[in-house]
Amino acid sequence: MSAPKKLFIKTYGCQMNVYDSERMAEALGGEGYVETKSADDADMILLNTCHIREKAAEKVYSELGRFKGLKAEKPDLKIGVAGCVAQAEGEEIMRRQPLVDLVVGPQSYHRLPEMEAKTREGEKVLDTDFPEEDKFEKLKNRPKAKRGPTAFLTVQEGCDKFCAFCVVPYTRGAEVSRPADRILTEARDLVERGVREITLLGQNVNAYHGAGPNGDLTLAQLIWELDKVDGLERIRFTTSHPNDMQDDLIEAHGTCAKLMPYLHLPVQAGSDKILKRMNRSHTAESYIRLIERIRAARSDILISGDFIVGFPEETEEDFQATMDLVEEVKYGTAYSFKYSTRPGTPAAERPQVDPAAADDRLQRLQALLTRQQREVQDGMVGREVGVLFEKTGRLPGQMVGKSDYLHAVHVADCNRDAGELARVRIVSSGANSLAGELIG
Ligand code: 5AD
Ligand code: SF4
Repeated sequence: MSAPKKLFIKTYGCQMNVYDSERMAEALGGEGYVETKSADDADMILLNTCHIREKAAEKVYSELGRFKGLKAEKPDLKIGVAGCVAQAEGEEIMRRQPLVDLVVGPQSYHRLPEMEAKTREGEKVLDTDFPEEDKFEKLKNRPKAKRGPTAFLTVQEGCDKFCAFCVVPYTRGAEVSRPADRILTEARDLVERGVREITLLGQNVNAYHGAGPNGDLTLAQLIWELDKVDGLERIRFTTSHPNDMQDDLIEAHGTCAKLMPYLHLPVQAGSDKILKRMNRSHTAESYIRLIERIRAARSDILISGDFIVGFPEETEEDFQATMDLVEEVKYGTAYSFKYSTRPGTPAAERPQVDPAAADDRLQRLQALLTRQQREVQDGMVGREVGVLFEKTGRLPGQMVGKSDYLHAVHVADCNRDAGELARVRIVSSGANSLAGELIG
Protein backbone atom coordinates (compact mmCIF):
# COMPACT_ATOMS: atom_id res chain seq x y z
CA MET A 1 0.00 0.00 0.00
CA SER A 2 1.27 3.48 -0.79
CA ALA A 3 1.93 5.97 2.01
CA PRO A 4 -1.11 8.06 2.87
CA LYS A 5 -1.35 11.46 1.26
CA LYS A 6 -1.43 14.38 3.65
CA LEU A 7 -4.18 16.94 3.83
CA PHE A 8 -3.84 20.34 5.52
CA ILE A 9 -7.09 22.22 6.06
CA LYS A 10 -7.13 25.74 7.44
CA THR A 11 -10.54 26.80 8.66
CA TYR A 12 -11.69 30.37 8.99
CA GLY A 13 -14.88 31.82 10.44
CA CYS A 14 -17.90 30.12 11.82
CA GLN A 15 -18.69 26.76 13.41
CA MET A 16 -20.43 25.73 10.22
CA ASN A 17 -17.02 25.85 8.57
CA VAL A 18 -15.52 23.73 11.35
CA TYR A 19 -18.21 21.12 10.66
CA ASP A 20 -17.67 21.39 6.90
CA SER A 21 -13.89 20.99 7.29
CA GLU A 22 -14.46 17.77 9.23
CA ARG A 23 -16.72 16.51 6.43
CA MET A 24 -14.15 17.47 3.75
CA ALA A 25 -11.44 15.62 5.68
CA GLU A 26 -13.71 12.56 5.87
CA ALA A 27 -14.54 12.76 2.14
CA LEU A 28 -10.86 12.91 1.22
CA GLY A 29 -10.07 10.31 3.92
CA GLY A 30 -11.87 7.86 1.61
CA GLU A 31 -9.26 8.75 -1.03
CA GLY A 32 -6.34 7.89 1.25
CA TYR A 33 -5.71 11.29 2.79
CA VAL A 34 -4.83 11.77 6.45
CA GLU A 35 -4.85 15.17 8.08
CA THR A 36 -1.65 16.96 8.96
CA LYS A 37 -1.19 20.00 11.17
CA SER A 38 1.44 21.59 8.95
CA ALA A 39 1.15 22.94 5.43
CA ASP A 40 4.82 22.09 4.84
CA ASP A 41 4.32 18.33 4.54
CA ALA A 42 0.92 18.45 2.83
CA ASP A 43 0.03 16.94 -0.55
CA MET A 44 -3.14 18.99 -0.57
CA ILE A 45 -3.91 22.29 1.12
CA LEU A 46 -7.49 23.48 1.50
CA LEU A 47 -8.41 26.91 2.79
CA ASN A 48 -11.97 26.80 4.11
CA THR A 49 -12.82 30.48 3.93
CA CYS A 50 -15.34 32.81 5.51
CA HIS A 51 -16.81 35.89 3.89
CA ILE A 52 -18.42 37.46 6.94
CA ARG A 53 -15.36 39.36 8.11
CA GLU A 54 -13.82 42.38 6.49
CA LYS A 55 -11.38 41.95 3.62
CA ALA A 56 -11.92 38.21 3.68
CA ALA A 57 -10.97 37.80 0.03
CA GLU A 58 -7.76 39.82 0.43
CA LYS A 59 -6.72 37.64 3.35
CA VAL A 60 -7.24 34.56 1.22
CA TYR A 61 -5.03 35.95 -1.54
CA SER A 62 -2.25 36.81 0.87
CA GLU A 63 -2.50 33.38 2.51
CA LEU A 64 -2.34 31.73 -0.92
CA GLY A 65 0.69 33.85 -1.85
CA ARG A 66 2.52 32.32 1.12
CA PHE A 67 2.25 28.87 -0.49
CA LYS A 68 4.20 29.94 -3.58
CA GLY A 69 7.54 28.61 -2.27
CA LEU A 70 5.98 25.31 -1.20
CA LYS A 71 4.40 24.78 -4.58
CA ALA A 72 7.71 25.55 -6.31
CA GLU A 73 9.40 22.88 -4.16
CA LYS A 74 6.58 20.37 -4.59
CA PRO A 75 4.93 20.72 -7.99
CA ASP A 76 2.50 17.91 -7.09
CA LEU A 77 1.08 19.88 -4.20
CA LYS A 78 -2.59 20.70 -4.84
CA ILE A 79 -4.09 23.87 -3.46
CA GLY A 80 -7.82 24.40 -3.05
CA VAL A 81 -10.11 27.14 -1.81
CA ALA A 82 -13.42 26.18 -0.20
CA GLY A 83 -16.13 28.01 1.74
CA CYS A 84 -17.92 31.27 1.19
CA VAL A 85 -15.12 33.25 -0.46
CA ALA A 86 -14.82 30.38 -2.95
CA GLN A 87 -18.55 30.59 -3.56
CA ALA A 88 -18.55 34.35 -3.99
CA GLU A 89 -15.36 34.82 -6.00
CA GLY A 90 -14.51 31.44 -7.50
CA GLU A 91 -13.66 32.57 -11.01
CA GLU A 92 -11.80 35.62 -9.80
CA ILE A 93 -9.66 33.41 -7.53
CA MET A 94 -8.76 31.12 -10.43
CA ARG A 95 -7.86 34.14 -12.56
CA ARG A 96 -5.87 36.02 -9.94
CA GLN A 97 -4.00 33.19 -8.31
CA PRO A 98 -2.63 30.58 -10.73
CA LEU A 99 -1.41 28.49 -7.77
CA VAL A 100 -4.98 27.40 -7.11
CA ASP A 101 -5.97 23.99 -8.53
CA LEU A 102 -9.41 23.72 -7.04
CA VAL A 103 -12.27 25.99 -6.00
CA VAL A 104 -15.19 24.34 -4.25
CA GLY A 105 -18.32 26.03 -2.89
CA PRO A 106 -20.03 24.91 0.34
CA GLN A 107 -22.69 22.90 -1.48
CA SER A 108 -20.27 20.72 -3.43
CA TYR A 109 -17.97 19.14 -0.83
CA HIS A 110 -19.26 15.65 -1.52
CA ARG A 111 -17.75 15.95 -4.99
CA LEU A 112 -14.25 16.55 -3.62
CA PRO A 113 -12.97 13.01 -4.36
CA GLU A 114 -13.76 13.38 -8.08
CA MET A 115 -12.41 16.90 -8.10
CA GLU A 116 -9.20 15.83 -6.41
CA ALA A 117 -8.73 13.09 -9.01
CA LYS A 118 -9.10 15.64 -11.79
CA THR A 119 -6.49 17.92 -10.25
CA ARG A 120 -4.11 14.92 -10.16
CA GLU A 121 -4.53 14.77 -13.94
CA GLY A 122 -3.45 18.38 -14.17
CA GLU A 123 -6.91 19.91 -14.50
CA LYS A 124 -8.10 23.03 -12.74
CA VAL A 125 -11.50 22.48 -11.15
CA LEU A 126 -14.16 25.03 -10.21
CA ASP A 127 -17.44 23.89 -8.64
CA THR A 128 -19.64 26.52 -7.06
CA ASP A 129 -23.02 25.06 -8.09
CA PHE A 130 -25.99 24.64 -5.85
CA PRO A 131 -26.64 20.99 -6.80
CA GLU A 132 -29.92 19.21 -6.25
CA GLU A 133 -28.43 16.15 -4.53
CA ASP A 134 -27.98 16.07 -0.77
CA LYS A 135 -24.33 16.63 0.04
CA PHE A 136 -24.81 15.37 3.60
CA GLU A 137 -26.07 12.00 2.36
CA LYS A 138 -23.09 11.67 0.06
CA LEU A 139 -20.74 12.52 2.89
CA LYS A 140 -21.85 9.86 5.34
CA ASN A 141 -20.54 6.33 5.75
CA ARG A 142 -16.96 7.45 6.11
CA PRO A 143 -14.49 5.72 8.45
CA LYS A 144 -15.83 5.79 12.02
CA ALA A 145 -13.13 7.46 14.05
CA LYS A 146 -13.50 7.97 17.79
CA ARG A 147 -14.60 11.51 18.58
CA GLY A 148 -14.15 13.96 21.43
CA PRO A 149 -17.03 14.74 23.81
CA THR A 150 -18.48 17.64 21.77
CA ALA A 151 -19.51 17.86 18.13
CA PHE A 152 -21.27 20.13 15.69
CA LEU A 153 -24.09 18.84 13.55
CA THR A 154 -25.42 20.94 10.68
CA VAL A 155 -29.21 20.73 10.49
CA GLN A 156 -29.99 23.68 8.29
CA GLU A 157 -28.12 25.81 5.81
CA GLY A 158 -28.64 29.05 3.99
CA CYS A 159 -30.83 32.00 4.82
CA ASP A 160 -33.84 33.76 3.32
CA LYS A 161 -33.69 36.80 5.58
CA PHE A 162 -31.51 39.10 3.44
CA CYS A 163 -30.26 41.40 6.16
CA ALA A 164 -28.94 44.39 4.21
CA PHE A 165 -25.32 43.91 5.37
CA CYS A 166 -24.96 40.15 4.97
CA VAL A 167 -23.53 37.92 2.23
CA VAL A 168 -24.87 34.64 3.60
CA PRO A 169 -28.06 34.50 1.48
CA TYR A 170 -25.82 34.88 -1.60
CA THR A 171 -22.96 32.55 -0.61
CA ARG A 172 -24.89 29.82 1.22
CA GLY A 173 -28.09 30.18 -0.79
CA ALA A 174 -31.71 29.72 0.18
CA GLU A 175 -32.69 28.17 3.49
CA VAL A 176 -32.72 24.35 3.39
CA SER A 177 -33.42 22.01 6.34
CA ARG A 178 -32.16 18.43 6.51
CA PRO A 179 -34.70 15.67 7.15
CA ALA A 180 -34.99 14.73 10.83
CA ASP A 181 -34.21 11.01 10.40
CA ARG A 182 -30.83 11.79 8.85
CA ILE A 183 -29.98 14.15 11.67
CA LEU A 184 -31.00 11.54 14.25
CA THR A 185 -28.93 8.86 12.53
CA GLU A 186 -25.93 11.16 12.50
CA ALA A 187 -26.49 12.07 16.17
CA ARG A 188 -26.65 8.39 17.23
CA ASP A 189 -23.50 7.71 15.25
CA LEU A 190 -21.71 10.60 16.99
CA VAL A 191 -22.81 9.32 20.40
CA GLU A 192 -21.51 5.83 19.56
CA ARG A 193 -18.19 7.46 18.76
CA GLY A 194 -17.95 9.17 22.15
CA VAL A 195 -19.83 12.44 21.69
CA ARG A 196 -21.87 13.66 24.70
CA GLU A 197 -22.82 17.15 23.57
CA ILE A 198 -24.13 18.15 20.16
CA THR A 199 -24.47 21.71 18.89
CA LEU A 200 -27.03 21.91 16.12
CA LEU A 201 -25.83 24.33 13.48
CA GLY A 202 -27.53 26.50 10.93
CA GLN A 203 -27.23 30.06 9.69
CA ASN A 204 -30.83 30.40 10.79
CA VAL A 205 -31.09 27.31 12.91
CA ASN A 206 -34.40 28.15 14.58
CA ALA A 207 -36.03 28.45 11.16
CA TYR A 208 -35.46 24.67 10.95
CA HIS A 209 -38.39 22.83 9.39
CA GLY A 210 -36.98 19.50 8.26
CA ALA A 211 -39.14 16.62 7.11
CA GLY A 212 -40.28 14.23 9.83
CA PRO A 213 -42.47 11.10 9.73
CA ASN A 214 -45.69 13.13 9.99
CA GLY A 215 -44.85 16.40 8.30
CA ASP A 216 -42.18 18.98 9.03
CA LEU A 217 -40.58 19.26 12.46
CA THR A 218 -39.80 22.51 14.21
CA LEU A 219 -36.41 22.91 15.86
CA ALA A 220 -38.02 22.27 19.25
CA GLN A 221 -39.57 19.03 17.98
CA LEU A 222 -36.19 17.97 16.61
CA ILE A 223 -34.61 18.74 19.99
CA TRP A 224 -37.22 16.56 21.73
CA GLU A 225 -36.35 13.71 19.34
CA LEU A 226 -32.67 14.16 20.17
CA ASP A 227 -33.57 14.24 23.86
CA LYS A 228 -34.50 10.55 23.49
CA VAL A 229 -31.03 9.56 22.24
CA ASP A 230 -29.40 7.58 25.07
CA GLY A 231 -25.90 8.72 25.88
CA LEU A 232 -26.44 12.19 24.48
CA GLU A 233 -26.28 14.46 27.51
CA ARG A 234 -26.35 17.99 26.17
CA ILE A 235 -27.96 19.81 23.25
CA ARG A 236 -27.17 23.32 22.02
CA PHE A 237 -28.05 25.20 18.85
CA THR A 238 -26.78 28.26 17.00
CA THR A 239 -27.39 30.79 15.33
CA SER A 240 -30.95 31.95 15.84
CA HIS A 241 -32.98 34.84 14.46
CA PRO A 242 -35.34 36.66 16.84
CA ASN A 243 -38.26 36.32 14.43
CA ASP A 244 -38.01 32.53 14.37
CA MET A 245 -37.99 32.09 18.14
CA GLN A 246 -41.23 30.11 18.32
CA ASP A 247 -43.19 29.33 21.48
CA ASP A 248 -42.30 25.63 21.54
CA LEU A 249 -38.59 26.44 21.42
CA ILE A 250 -38.88 28.96 24.25
CA GLU A 251 -40.84 26.41 26.25
CA ALA A 252 -38.24 23.70 25.58
CA HIS A 253 -35.68 25.89 27.31
CA GLY A 254 -37.72 25.51 30.46
CA THR A 255 -38.62 21.84 30.17
CA CYS A 256 -35.93 19.94 28.24
CA ALA A 257 -33.17 19.04 30.69
CA LYS A 258 -30.67 18.25 27.93
CA LEU A 259 -31.13 21.66 26.30
CA MET A 260 -28.43 23.91 27.76
CA PRO A 261 -29.25 27.35 29.24
CA TYR A 262 -27.42 29.34 26.59
CA LEU A 263 -28.89 31.21 23.65
CA HIS A 264 -27.08 33.11 20.93
CA LEU A 265 -29.67 35.58 19.69
CA PRO A 266 -28.16 38.37 17.59
CA VAL A 267 -29.95 41.71 17.64
CA GLN A 268 -27.34 43.69 15.62
CA ALA A 269 -28.56 47.15 16.74
CA GLY A 270 -30.87 48.90 19.19
CA SER A 271 -32.29 51.67 17.02
CA ASP A 272 -35.52 50.88 15.21
CA LYS A 273 -34.51 53.13 12.33
CA ILE A 274 -31.28 51.15 11.84
CA LEU A 275 -32.99 47.79 12.38
CA LYS A 276 -35.43 48.70 9.64
CA ARG A 277 -32.63 49.72 7.29
CA MET A 278 -30.87 46.48 8.12
CA ASN A 279 -34.05 44.68 7.06
CA ARG A 280 -34.12 42.85 10.40
CA SER A 281 -37.94 42.88 10.65
CA HIS A 282 -37.94 43.16 14.45
CA THR A 283 -37.73 46.18 16.73
CA ALA A 284 -35.66 46.79 19.84
CA GLU A 285 -38.83 46.55 21.90
CA SER A 286 -39.96 43.24 20.34
CA TYR A 287 -36.47 41.81 20.95
CA ILE A 288 -36.50 42.88 24.61
CA ARG A 289 -39.99 41.40 25.11
CA LEU A 290 -38.75 38.19 23.52
CA ILE A 291 -35.80 38.01 25.92
CA GLU A 292 -38.24 38.50 28.80
CA ARG A 293 -40.33 35.57 27.60
CA ILE A 294 -37.25 33.38 27.25
CA ARG A 295 -36.12 34.32 30.76
CA ALA A 296 -39.59 33.59 32.08
CA ALA A 297 -39.17 30.04 30.72
CA ARG A 298 -35.58 29.67 31.99
CA SER A 299 -34.51 32.41 34.36
CA ASP A 300 -30.78 31.56 34.40
CA ILE A 301 -30.32 31.37 30.62
CA LEU A 302 -27.15 33.07 29.37
CA ILE A 303 -27.86 35.36 26.43
CA SER A 304 -25.26 35.95 23.75
CA GLY A 305 -25.50 38.43 20.87
CA ASP A 306 -23.99 39.92 17.74
CA PHE A 307 -23.78 43.66 17.11
CA ILE A 308 -22.83 45.86 14.20
CA VAL A 309 -21.86 49.48 14.81
CA GLY A 310 -21.42 52.14 12.15
CA PHE A 311 -24.08 50.74 9.85
CA PRO A 312 -24.85 53.31 7.09
CA GLU A 313 -26.72 56.32 8.48
CA GLU A 314 -26.19 55.33 12.12
CA THR A 315 -26.13 58.53 14.22
CA GLU A 316 -24.77 58.91 17.73
CA GLU A 317 -28.37 58.77 18.93
CA ASP A 318 -28.95 55.47 17.10
CA PHE A 319 -25.80 54.11 18.67
CA GLN A 320 -27.00 55.19 22.12
CA ALA A 321 -30.11 53.09 21.50
CA THR A 322 -27.83 50.07 21.01
CA MET A 323 -26.05 50.86 24.30
CA ASP A 324 -29.44 51.19 26.05
CA LEU A 325 -30.59 47.85 24.71
CA VAL A 326 -27.38 46.18 25.92
CA GLU A 327 -27.86 47.73 29.38
CA GLU A 328 -31.36 46.33 29.48
CA VAL A 329 -30.67 42.82 28.20
CA LYS A 330 -27.37 42.16 30.00
CA TYR A 331 -25.38 39.82 27.80
CA GLY A 332 -23.29 36.94 29.09
CA THR A 333 -21.14 37.06 25.98
CA ALA A 334 -21.25 38.94 22.69
CA TYR A 335 -19.55 39.52 19.37
CA SER A 336 -19.41 43.08 18.05
CA PHE A 337 -18.22 44.30 14.70
CA LYS A 338 -17.70 47.53 12.84
CA TYR A 339 -19.85 47.54 9.76
CA SER A 340 -17.89 46.79 6.60
CA THR A 341 -19.26 46.72 3.10
CA ARG A 342 -19.89 43.48 1.28
CA PRO A 343 -20.12 44.04 -2.46
CA GLY A 344 -23.49 42.99 -3.83
CA THR A 345 -25.42 43.57 -0.58
CA PRO A 346 -27.95 46.45 -0.41
CA ALA A 347 -26.13 48.41 2.30
CA ALA A 348 -22.90 48.52 0.29
CA GLU A 349 -24.35 51.28 -1.91
CA ARG A 350 -25.37 53.52 0.99
CA PRO A 351 -23.52 56.50 2.48
CA GLN A 352 -20.98 55.19 4.98
CA VAL A 353 -20.43 56.38 8.56
CA ASP A 354 -17.17 58.20 9.32
CA PRO A 355 -14.71 55.37 10.18
CA ALA A 356 -13.29 57.23 13.21
CA ALA A 357 -16.79 57.61 14.67
CA ALA A 358 -17.48 53.93 14.04
CA ASP A 359 -14.19 52.95 15.74
CA ASP A 360 -15.07 55.04 18.75
CA ARG A 361 -18.54 53.48 19.01
CA LEU A 362 -17.14 49.99 18.72
CA GLN A 363 -14.75 50.69 21.58
CA ARG A 364 -17.52 52.00 23.80
CA LEU A 365 -19.81 49.08 23.00
CA GLN A 366 -17.07 46.53 23.56
CA ALA A 367 -16.18 48.11 26.91
CA LEU A 368 -19.79 47.74 28.03
CA LEU A 369 -20.13 44.18 26.70
CA THR A 370 -16.85 43.13 28.32
CA ARG A 371 -18.02 44.55 31.65
CA GLN A 372 -21.30 42.65 31.40
CA GLN A 373 -19.57 39.45 30.37
CA ARG A 374 -17.30 39.76 33.39
CA GLU A 375 -20.23 40.42 35.73
CA VAL A 376 -22.10 37.38 34.47
CA GLN A 377 -18.98 35.21 34.76
CA ASP A 378 -18.18 36.50 38.25
CA GLY A 379 -21.81 35.87 39.23
CA MET A 380 -21.15 32.16 38.74
CA VAL A 381 -18.90 32.02 41.83
CA GLY A 382 -20.56 29.98 44.57
CA ARG A 383 -22.98 28.31 42.18
CA GLU A 384 -23.25 24.62 41.34
CA VAL A 385 -23.10 23.90 37.63
CA GLY A 386 -22.81 20.91 35.34
CA VAL A 387 -19.42 20.56 33.63
CA LEU A 388 -18.63 18.30 30.70
CA PHE A 389 -14.92 17.56 30.81
CA GLU A 390 -13.13 17.90 27.48
CA LYS A 391 -9.41 17.59 28.18
CA THR A 392 -6.66 17.58 30.78
CA GLY A 393 -5.46 20.95 32.03
CA ARG A 394 -1.93 22.28 32.19
CA LEU A 395 -1.48 21.40 35.86
CA PRO A 396 -1.16 17.75 36.97
CA GLY A 397 -4.53 16.25 37.92
CA GLN A 398 -6.44 19.19 36.45
CA MET A 399 -9.33 18.78 33.99
CA VAL A 400 -10.93 21.42 31.78
CA GLY A 401 -14.51 21.42 30.58
CA LYS A 402 -17.45 23.63 29.75
CA SER A 403 -20.23 24.59 32.11
CA ASP A 404 -23.89 24.45 31.11
CA TYR A 405 -23.50 28.15 30.31
CA LEU A 406 -20.48 27.50 28.06
CA HIS A 407 -17.91 28.99 30.42
CA ALA A 408 -14.56 27.19 30.48
CA VAL A 409 -14.10 25.61 33.92
CA HIS A 410 -10.83 24.29 35.41
CA VAL A 411 -11.08 21.68 38.13
CA ALA A 412 -8.01 20.70 40.19
CA ASP A 413 -7.46 17.20 41.63
CA CYS A 414 -10.06 15.88 39.29
CA ASN A 415 -10.27 12.12 38.93
CA ARG A 416 -12.61 12.34 35.93
CA ASP A 417 -12.02 11.58 32.26
CA ALA A 418 -12.82 13.59 29.17
CA GLY A 419 -16.44 12.89 28.25
CA GLU A 420 -17.64 12.71 31.87
CA LEU A 421 -20.23 15.09 33.21
CA ALA A 422 -19.97 16.22 36.82
CA ARG A 423 -21.53 18.67 39.26
CA VAL A 424 -19.03 21.36 40.12
CA ARG A 425 -19.06 24.24 42.59
CA ILE A 426 -17.52 27.38 41.09
CA VAL A 427 -14.93 28.82 43.47
CA SER A 428 -13.33 31.64 41.49
CA SER A 429 -13.53 33.61 38.28
CA GLY A 430 -10.40 34.38 36.25
CA ALA A 431 -9.66 36.36 33.10
CA ASN A 432 -11.37 34.00 30.68
CA SER A 433 -12.39 31.01 32.71
CA LEU A 434 -13.75 29.78 36.01
CA ALA A 435 -12.24 27.46 38.59
CA GLY A 436 -14.36 24.91 40.40
CA GLU A 437 -14.31 21.84 42.63
CA LEU A 438 -16.14 18.57 42.29
CA ILE A 439 -19.22 18.16 44.45
CA GLY A 440 -19.52 14.87 46.29
N1 5AD B 1 -20.18 44.00 8.57
C1 5AD B 1 -19.97 43.77 9.89
N2 5AD B 1 -20.44 42.70 10.54
C2 5AD B 1 -21.14 41.79 9.82
N3 5AD B 1 -21.72 40.64 10.19
C3 5AD B 1 -22.30 40.10 9.09
N4 5AD B 1 -22.11 40.87 8.03
C4 5AD B 1 -21.39 41.96 8.46
C5 5AD B 1 -20.89 43.13 7.82
N5 5AD B 1 -21.10 43.37 6.53
C6 5AD B 1 -21.77 40.15 11.57
C7 5AD B 1 -23.22 40.09 12.10
C8 5AD B 1 -23.51 38.62 12.11
C9 5AD B 1 -22.13 38.05 12.42
C10 5AD B 1 -21.95 36.61 12.13
O1 5AD B 1 -21.26 38.82 11.63
O2 5AD B 1 -23.26 40.63 13.40
O3 5AD B 1 -24.49 38.24 13.07
FE1 SF4 C 1 -27.13 37.01 7.42
FE2 SF4 C 1 -28.13 36.06 9.74
FE3 SF4 C 1 -29.34 38.10 8.44
FE4 SF4 C 1 -29.42 35.61 7.42
S1 SF4 C 1 -30.34 36.31 9.36
S2 SF4 C 1 -29.02 37.50 6.28
S3 SF4 C 1 -27.38 34.83 7.99
S4 SF4 C 1 -27.28 38.11 9.38
